[in-house]
Amino acid sequence: MQTDSNARSRGEILAVTGKGGTGKTTTTAIMAKLLVQQGVRPLVVDADPPVSLAYALGAEPTKTLGLFRKKLIEDPREKRRIADSERHMREFIYDEVLMEVGGASLLVLGRAEGPGCFCGINELLKFGIQSLSDKYAITLIDCEAGIEQINRLVVNRLTTLLIVSDASVKGIRTAEHLSRVAGEYAVDGTFRVGLVINKAGMDIHPLEKRAEEIGLEIVGLIPEDENVAEFDLLGTPTTALPDDSPCVNAVRGIMERLKLIDPVG
Ligand SMILES: Nc1ncnc2c1ncn2[C@@H]1O[C@H](COP(=O)(O)OP(=O)(O)OP(=O)(O)O)[C@@H](O)[C@H]1O
Ligand SMILES: [Mg+2]
Repeated sequence: MQTDSNARSRGEILAVTGKGGTGKTTTTAIMAKLLVQQGVRPLVVDADPPVSLAYALGAEPTKTLGLFRKKLIEDPREKRRIADSERHMREFIYDEVLMEVGGASLLVLGRAEGPGCFCGINELLKFGIQSLSDKYAITLIDCEAGIEQINRLVVNRLTTLLIVSDASVKGIRTAEHLSRVAGEYAVDGTFRVGLVINKAGMDIHPLEKRAEEIGLEIVGLIPEDENVAEFDLLGTPTTALPDDSPCVNAVRGIMERLKLIDPVG
């Protein structure tokens, strides 16, 4: 089993959520990159079935919880052996599903392969996050778009919910909705919520006003960054973005503000 040798005292579990295409995966990948640069090995969870975070980190998602579940369905003996004990199950996920990529540990949800409904795989995801995150100073979860996953995930153990929005009042309204749903499902309600505006233009005053009205704190603005678009076009991992790329600088600022990394310089 691998543990984080640079573990900080607190176990941060941060979920990145928001509506479709707002920049969740890009933000999560850059956060992982910045943590690794500071010597922290994060547990990074690609909780979106199309596995885009894995690619953003430069990994081929050859091992997923979806494939693991299929194996269990196809091999009843293995299923009995593993399902009998949580410890076996956790060790199996460590050994057979967790991947190492660029200084981070990556857990990929993937598609639900084979028969059966999607519920089983969500339970596996929940179990995987709960049992693995204890070993890491910080866990980053790239959620699928929308609210569904918020209540299926480990909301009761989240420490930070980062909502990524586009630069529109409509986007802020969706963020408000997500924040409310998370609050309703949270068991202890102690997680903080931060709003990030991605592809932010010059004048975001109307958005700031709206966010203030609904009590959401804007923790950072990420500018439109032509490097991000170019890297995605070429299939280059997001983590290979230059350290001084506008997007990377902005995410660094957000992480410093949230005290997830130490200030540089
Ligand atoms: N700051 C930025 N500047 C330029 N392009 C960006 C920026 N952020 C994201 N993009 C582009 O926007 C698109 C969506 O980004 P991303 O995949 O990170 O969003 P997402 O919220 O994870 O999407 P999904 O809901 O599909 O998972 C990508 O093509 C990405 O290259
Ligand atoms: Mg995504």
